Amino acid sequence: MDVPLYLRPRVEPPLASLLGAVPFLHSLVDALGSPLNVLLPEAVAENARRFRSVYRRHRLAGRVYFAHKANRSSALVRRLAAEDPAAVGVDVASLEELRHALSCGFTGDRIMATGPKDPEFLWLAARVGATVNLDSPGELERLAGLVRGYGLGRVDVLVRLSGFESAAGHGGAGTRLLSRRSRFGTPVRDAPALVSALERHADAVELTGAAYHLDTTGVEEKVRALEQCVLFMDECRARGFAPRAVDIGGGFGVGYVDDAGEWERWTTALSEAVLGGRPPLTWRGHGYGLRNEGGTVRGAAALYPGHRPTAGPGYLDELLSLPAPVLGRPPATLLLEHLHDLYVEPGRSLVDQCGLSLARVRDVRPAGEEPGRYLVRLGMNAGDVSLEEHGVLVDPVLLPRGGPEEEPGKGEEGPVGVFLVGNLCLEADLITRRLVFLPRLPRAGDLLAFANTAGYAMDFHAHHAQRQPVARTVAVEERGGSWRWCPDEDYWPITHPGGTPA
Ligand SMILES: Cc1ncc(COP(=O)(O)O)c(C=O)c1O
Repeated sequence: MDVPLYLRPRVEPPLASLLGAVPFLHSLVDALGSPLNVLLPEAVAENARRFRSVYRRHRLAGRVYFAHKANRSSALVRRLAAEDPAAVGVDVASLEELRHALSCGFTGDRIMATGPKDPEFLWLAARVGATVNLDSPGELERLAGLVRGYGLGRVDVLVRLSGFESAAGHGGAGTRLLSRRSRFGTPVRDAPALVSALERHADAVELTGAAYHLDTTGVEEKVRALEQCVLFMDECRARGFAPRAVDIGGGFGVGYVDDAGEWERWTTALSEAVLGGRPPLTWRGHGYGLRNEGGTVRGAAALYPGHRPTAGPGYLDELLSLPAPVLGRPPATLLLEHLHDLYVEPGRSLVDQCGLSLARVRDVRPAGEEPGRYLVRLGMNAGDVSLEEHGVLVDPVLLPRGGPEEEPGKGEEGPVGVFLVGNLCLEADLITRRLVFLPRLPRAGDLLAFANTAGYAMDFHAHHAQRQPVARTVAVEERGGSWRWCPDEDYWPITHPGGTPA
């Protein structure tokens, strides 16, 4: 047996204690079927507080807006609606997300409308007094037309900028750096025309700040973008506007894999396997974007950095503390000096540790073409848990039918490599293309728990293919030493005498 290459998940309380409640989780799947999503609404509120504590450390004002797109749950959005209105808002990127946020208790003044917007979305956002994060000059024209045409109040708008360019090196003498391209927002070079349009539409909209969202883990790139927003707002002030907030979007990240060494070993082994120096680590030698070109590894691994020493609120802290390239002072200082508020829109990181996805093991059999390996067929498919889809590689936790102390019994004892396959009759329906090591061979009836799936991995691609059941979602809470649950849609952040979370 080769040395197992684990990628064990990072689990913190209360998710850790939920994973320990094995009979409770089995009873949920017995009652509600497989797959099943389980959410911890209290954990999202705790994450919001952690982001807020970074604001306090830097003495900054402003709001944390939850990027709703990360999870469709009502329980999470309602739980956040119950937080301090001045501190927590929601970022909605579609008409349906806006309607959902309103129905969960968010008032319009706590809502940020982002992304490209259809007229209906723009109208409702303007009608309820949401802030409109302008995606393009055309959107500004359409919004101003709606405000005038339907007699709506003046709308607060942020200008979303992209295509940041800045000089690297001291005194601006170094190379010119262009930030990641984005098809969203207005390129900085086109901003002057947009500002002129804002002047023309001053009766309909009020410029309240500048925004960006960069889909990168690169913190320096984000510091540069933040500084460019501050400089842009200085220019706007000089033209008579009074902008007051910088919205730095999301992308603070999550550490999925607990142990840096495990992540290091696995990624090194992937390169070795691609070169043929060790047996494949993946289904039919899939390389996750790496390939062997004449004995050299080429390409870039399309993987989320599984182990992250700094993520979420810690990443925000770092971003606010690094010196900005032009003005030389850290973003937190720039914001304070200008009396600007800071807005953030965390999605993935705000729902870190907020839930898990459960699947029943349906069948286990040897993987014919891979001796010593097994195929484990689950009561779920690749559309139910899209970790792999997002390049997130992390092991599920085995929850035996009889509880954690149960003897392994017959079958493989000790670690075993398995391929996790879904319940669709399709060759491509693999839950993960990676060989997953489990502490022992699972048996039909056991559960596998995919931890930390609340960010983009629950139901992200769920469909009714082959009429397999789509996961139900429940909200759970531990009270007085026992776990209670209710359907996601029935959760409200208030306590009833009956004692369920809702
Ligand atoms: C405008 C905007 N804000 C926030 C987010 C959330 O990003 P993350 O989930 O990486 O924090 C996204 C993600 O696509 C986005 O497009």
